[in-house]
Formats: sequence, C-alpha cells, structure tokens
Amino acid sequence: MAGPVTVDTMTKTTDVPQTITPKDWRAAMGYFPSGVTIVTTWDGETPVGSTVSAFTSVSLEPPLLLVCLDKSNPIRAPLERAGVFGVNILHEEGAQIARCFGGPDQTQRFDVHAHRAHPEGAPQLEAAPVFIDCVVENIHVAGDHLIVVGRGARIEHTSAATPLLYHKGAFPKLHPPE
Ligand SMILES: Cc1cc2nc3c(=O)[nH]c(=O)nc-3n(C[C@H](O)[C@H](O)[C@H](O)COP(=O)(O)O)c2cc1C
Repeated sequence: MAGPVTVDTMTKTTDVPQTITPKDWRAAMGYFPSGVTIVTTWDGETPVGSTVSAFTSVSLEPPLLLVCLDKSNPIRAPLERAGVFGVNILHEEGAQIARCFGGPDQTQRFDVHAHRAHPEGAPQLEAAPVFIDCVVENIHVAGDHLIVVGRGARIEHTSAATPLLYHKGAFPKLHPPE
C-alpha cells in the first residue's frame, strides 16, 4: 500500500464578482456529456467506492489521470490514507451500479457488486470493462472539490462493451454511427 498522502492546499483567491448561481453552473456543466466511473479505495481492510463522472486523462508519459472529489465525499479520507485508488469505467448496462455507488447508502455496495484486487491495488469491480489501478500522485484543493491526480500502475481492459454515458442528469444510450 502506498501510504498517506499530503494535500496541496495552495489556493488563490480572486476578486472576480460571483454572478453565476450553482443552478446555472450545474446546468451548463451537465450539458457536457461524460462517461461514468466508480472510484474505489480501501478503508483499512474494507473496500469503499463512489460514483464519479468528473474523470479525465491528464498525461501519457507518465500515465496520469484525474478525478474530482467533493470534499465531503465519504471516500476522501480513506483515499488520502491509502494513497491508492482504482478507476472502474462502467459499461452501458451499469446505470444501476452508478446509482448504487452514487447514493447516500454506503452499505451493501460491495456485497451486491463483486470485486477483486491485486496485492497493493485498489478494489476492482468485476463488472467494469476497464479498470485502472492508480497511486496518488498529488491532490489539489479546488473550491469545494479536490483534484486527485493518479499515476496509472496497472490496466485491466477486459471487454469492448459500449460505455455508460452521463448527460443532463440521465444515462442516455450511445448511438453507433449510421
Ligand atoms: C452519475 C453520478 C456522478 C457523480 N459524480 C461525482 C463526481 O464526479 N465527484 C464526486 O465527488 N461525487 C460524484 N457523485 C456523487 C457521489 O457518488 C456521492 O456523493 C457519494 O458516493 C456518496 O454519497 P453521499 O454524498 O450522499 O454520501 C456522482 C453521483 C452520480 C450518481
């Protein structure tokens, strides 16, 4: 296990007048379609996970990605302690998994959805066609979220299933090109 990580708390305050409401922001950001991931880590011996759509690739060499976590996300503290996390990219039948790991009830998530893990690695959901094991590279504070940068340590790409999409609060189907 990689061990506890420190959080880079450098933030810059500006004098930009704040005219954007959270409702407007949510609507604008929700217009941008994304995939859906389950970010997993360990709380001691216990697997924990959260649905995260704020995920992107950052760098090819070295292989870096980022996920944005709400500061109040229950997996935040375990992730900071463990220093490792996994990104499980969901397939198009995974909306139920996204809801399960995205709601308030933390229990039963891993009872219902099977997982396995490599030594030193994060919990890997059996149902995820793509899994990326990461070591935390750094964590930046950004407003009410954290930008967690991970260095990819291992990939398991087990299927070419169509990915799950997230758009305007719903899970539309990806239409193949005509
Ligand atoms: C589709 C979807 C996308 C989400 N994306 C994020 C995200 O990018 N970052 C995040 O911190 N939480 C995200 N969440 C919310 C967390 O999954 C959720 O807050 C967390 O699992 C714990 O729930 P609680 O805050 O109600 O305890 C998302 C939820 C859903 C359903």
